[in-house]
Amino acid sequence: MISIAIDGPSGAGKSTIAKAVSQKLGFIYVDTGALYRSIGLYVLNQGKDTANRQEVSSLLPEIELKIRYLDGVQRVYLNGQDVSEEIRKPPVSMAASNVSAHPEVREFLLNLQRQFAEEYNVVMDGRDIGTVVLPNADIKIFLTASSEERARRRYDELIQKGEQVQFDKIHKEIIERDYNDSHRAIAPLKQADDAILVDTTGCALEESIQKLETLIRSRMK
Ligand code: DC
Repeated sequence: MISIAIDGPSGAGKSTIAKAVSQKLGFIYVDTGALYRSIGLYVLNQGKDTANRQEVSSLLPEIELKIRYLDGVQRVYLNGQDVSEEIRKPPVSMAASNVSAHPEVREFLLNLQRQFAEEYNVVMDGRDIGTVVLPNADIKIFLTASSEERARRRYDELIQKGEQVQFDKIHKEIIERDYNDSHRAIAPLKQADDAILVDTTGCALEESIQKLETLIRSRMK
């Protein structure tokens, strides 16, 4: 099986780009952030503190996560319920970042992610795919963009969905989440030594998709 790892900070366009590229290649797209978001959502719904390791790990035995594909689109089920839309709400982002720092949570999700790469050709996106989850991935890409640009993209996306948001607040959250994700003790966000760095600052979405597809196809030969 061929696996392509795409890592990078929040809002770099990983999911949109990875999704489009996987369709072009006929690969399965695995959005691993959705798994951390689902755990974050569950902990929030239980009224527990997402930053508290003990509280979060004691809830893990109650959680069952499943990924399914409907018309090629990933859906995530939390204890049998489709939470694919709910996990995109802004408060869930920081909750996901908080729960993702706990070693028990990362361990809980590790095999689920690896199973996909054993069974299918995958484009998998996350923070630690090239470094921890699939260290032997065939191609590794570290996708990034400036924090202002990433905040702008997230802002536009949320405004389009009709959410009431402020740019400065989104930008602050992006910086906070970058810090959280890259400073945790276990599996922090960082570029793998053998990953190719792609900076999409100033690039239109189509341009970034094209750039990645060309890069991947040239490496697959
Ligand atoms: O990609 P995302 O923004 O949906 O991810 C939400 C959070 O989950 C992110 O802030 C950090 C965490 N995460 C992680 O630690 N490792 C991954 N492979 C994917 C996401």
